[in-house]
Amino acid sequence: MRDPFRSICDDDLERRWIWISLILAFAMGGLLGLYAVASNIHPPSNVETIDSSRLHLTEEFAEDNLGVKENDDGSLTVTMVAARYGFFPPVIEVPSNTAVKFRIASADVLHGMHVPFTNAATMIVPGYISEINTRFPTAGKYSFLCNEYCGLGHDSMWSRLIVVPQSAQGK
Ligand code: CUA
Repeated sequence: MRDPFRSICDDDLERRWIWISLILAFAMGGLLGLYAVASNIHPPSNVETIDSSRLHLTEEFAEDNLGVKENDDGSLTVTMVAARYGFFPPVIEVPSNTAVKFRIASADVLHGMHVPFTNAATMIVPGYISEINTRFPTAGKYSFLCNEYCGLGHDSMWSRLIVVPQSAQGK
């Protein structure tokens, strides 16, 4: 097969390095893809807009409607508001090995949510509803952190996620 780079480069050694660098780039890209698949990492893909200044007037994000709700199929939906400087409600408790959908909206500026040691992480962009579908295999107490700088109180913007063993739920 004729080397396709022959038309742009006459030097054998240089063409060899063109190939090596291309192969390395694709190998690294492929490795990232494999890692993402193996660790169940995927980009948040929900695009749904909301008026962040009127969250409290919406049905879903009104204060009384926040928290964990069980759906008909046994999965859970967790509705939360991120606002300077906390997550509301501040403590979330879910059973392990259960499908959980987080729906989070910001009441003010850009926030993030990250639960270390799990695959739950997203930006919370004002004007949009962030959605994460996950399940937590390991019971325990997790920190629920803001990982986007949102102001002077950013350091103290965190809350608690408690994953209880499924059998302890009595359901
Ligand atoms: Cu909210 Cu940083």
